[in-house]
Amino acid sequence: MSETDVELEARLAEQDAFDPPESFIQQANVTDPEIYQQFEDNWPRCFEQAADLLSWTDDYDQVLDDSNPPFYEWFVGGELNASANCLDRHLEGRGDEPAIEWIGEPTDEDNRTYTYSELHREVNEFAAGLRALGVEEDDVVTLYLPMIPELPIAMLACARIGAPHSVVFAGFSADALGTRLEAADSEYLVTCDGYYRRGDPLDHFSKASDGLANVSHSVDTVIVERLAKEDQIPHNWTEQTHSYATLLEKHRGATVEPIGRDAEDMLFLMYTSGTTGQPKGVKHTTGGYLSWAAWTSHAVLDVKPEDTYFCAADIGWITGHSYIVYGPLALGTTTMMYEGTPDYPDRNRLWELIETYEATQLYTAPTAIRSFMKWGTEYIESHDLSSLRLLGTVGEPINPRAWKWYYKHIGEESCPVVDTWWQTETGGMMLTTLPAIGEMKPGTAGPPLPGVSADVVDVRGSPVAAGEAGYLVANKPWPGMLRTLYQNDDRFINEYWREYSNTDSDDSADWVYFPEDGAKIDGDGYITVLGRVDDVLNVSGHRLGTMEIESAIVGVEGVAEAAVVGGDHEIKGEAVYAYVITEDGYKENEDLRERIVAGVEDAIGPIARPEAVVFTPELPKTRSGKIMRRLLENIANNDELGDTSTLRNPDVVSEIQQKAQSN
Ligand code: WTA
Repeated sequence: MSETDVELEARLAEQDAFDPPESFIQQANVTDPEIYQQFEDNWPRCFEQAADLLSWTDDYDQVLDDSNPPFYEWFVGGELNASANCLDRHLEGRGDEPAIEWIGEPTDEDNRTYTYSELHREVNEFAAGLRALGVEEDDVVTLYLPMIPELPIAMLACARIGAPHSVVFAGFSADALGTRLEAADSEYLVTCDGYYRRGDPLDHFSKASDGLANVSHSVDTVIVERLAKEDQIPHNWTEQTHSYATLLEKHRGATVEPIGRDAEDMLFLMYTSGTTGQPKGVKHTTGGYLSWAAWTSHAVLDVKPEDTYFCAADIGWITGHSYIVYGPLALGTTTMMYEGTPDYPDRNRLWELIETYEATQLYTAPTAIRSFMKWGTEYIESHDLSSLRLLGTVGEPINPRAWKWYYKHIGEESCPVVDTWWQTETGGMMLTTLPAIGEMKPGTAGPPLPGVSADVVDVRGSPVAAGEAGYLVANKPWPGMLRTLYQNDDRFINEYWREYSNTDSDDSADWVYFPEDGAKIDGDGYITVLGRVDDVLNVSGHRLGTMEIESAIVGVEGVAEAAVVGGDHEIKGEAVYAYVITEDGYKENEDLRERIVAGVEDAIGPIARPEAVVFTPELPKTRSGKIMRRLLENIANNDELGDTSTLRNPDVVSEIQQKAQSN
């Protein structure tokens, strides 16, 4: 590092608040700080601003009906179609502009650009195909597809004919698919023969078939032939299997009138894991969800039609639904979609894409940012990333060190970083700074968005003092909220409302949404989300966020990634166990261990001092990339290990066990 770099690092390390860059403010979509007050004074009518971003075929008569909490209704009486909002209305003016820039694996020969006209055409054809198979309004269509253009095409085709989709992440197992098909009573499945991972063809159809084998009802299946040229993926066509290509061929040039959907009609279902084995079917609606996805894309991600916007998530998760497909397309922008991983064929991949497509935003997850940090800056330095205007993160808390690294090395200190907190259930962003308005504080998501009412409370529901940890709650409804858990209103109330609401009351003010996250709030109303409350430890009667401790550890020089769990402790109740991956070039030695302990003591206090620091080459992760903490707890406690079959890297477990024992 040159001397100026060293100075810069030192300055950044000390700085704990950053102003939005002037150049960004000059051109931003939302710039008036009064927006917070205006939304508060004008609640809930303030959300008309969100609804106004859409085209309605029938105007709504009421913004919010809160007479039957927690079953809120938004934009009551309004009628619209999500597919028409994402496609038809952009044809005039943006018909020849790219809607989707798809970058396939394994070679750039696979790349495809869909202009709005082309996307519109294929969506119409596929919608006609689905209809011909018998799909009717309100039938749930399951989409088990990887990151190929046919996934958003199928989503929009479903939306066009009023059939809710239920996307199952392609990395999920056959069993997971089966459970979701069954739970949603879904009689239609769109899947593919296979896809590429790190250059190799992967058989997806066998997985889909195995999943189907466990479903008690019959399922018509459409197969996208992604790997047709490989000629090695089984195609046992039956009366119930249909080729996507043939279906399109049959309906060449078809137009399907978008069905007028009531604002409260279901747009999609998204299954997410709960505390029980049975996944929760989160129900999102056409009017409220789409308004929220569009408005937050506009206000937070600063999306403009002329942008080339890049969200590096997977459409199999909610982030991809809201911020690759619905939000960006509703705004008529160009959305990038990348099939592969950031390190294939090499670690330049993402930066190459940003440079080639001149991406204007990058929205990704802290876990990815930590990997980039671990790889080092050499891959970034050889690419021109100056097209980037804004950076975003989502999915887990980001520690200040990773935030600053992102800000400095990817954003070159000229892009605001929005740390966005939200959930599958919230439909879209809830806590974050507005990029041209709010001061950014690394590690802290920020205040609630205008019109969102959130607080941090204790077990009884009273607000905690600034700096103290408590539970995050939302005191008022918002348009993007889930409406219920599919066919399970009781579970909906129990999971999200019972904790802090007076459930006997029909006064909306008595109802409080509980996202099951721990948080703290500072004097400026900025909220730091500490992690799921089931990940909160209680050490000697003190509540400690595992995420908070992890953040402290990851802040130590030489640490790439860390996971903290609670192990049983005779005196303290629980003790802190830390599993740590070192950065390339650092040794797993006593010196580093001591610096980690000191780092935790410095950041939180001696109470959080780890009982053990176990160095490990990898952490056990689920296929969705979440660390499997239960396993680490079992290792800490020398317990029998639970099920490891859902891990992406099951082999790592015995290695960690050995390391823990020799510790
Ligand atoms: C966590 C992903 C801290 C949180 C959109 C939440 C975050 C869960 C952040 C939802 C953030 C998400 N800071 N924690 N910026 N964003 N989370 O449903 O615990 O996959 O409850 O939705 O991720 O995960 P989900």
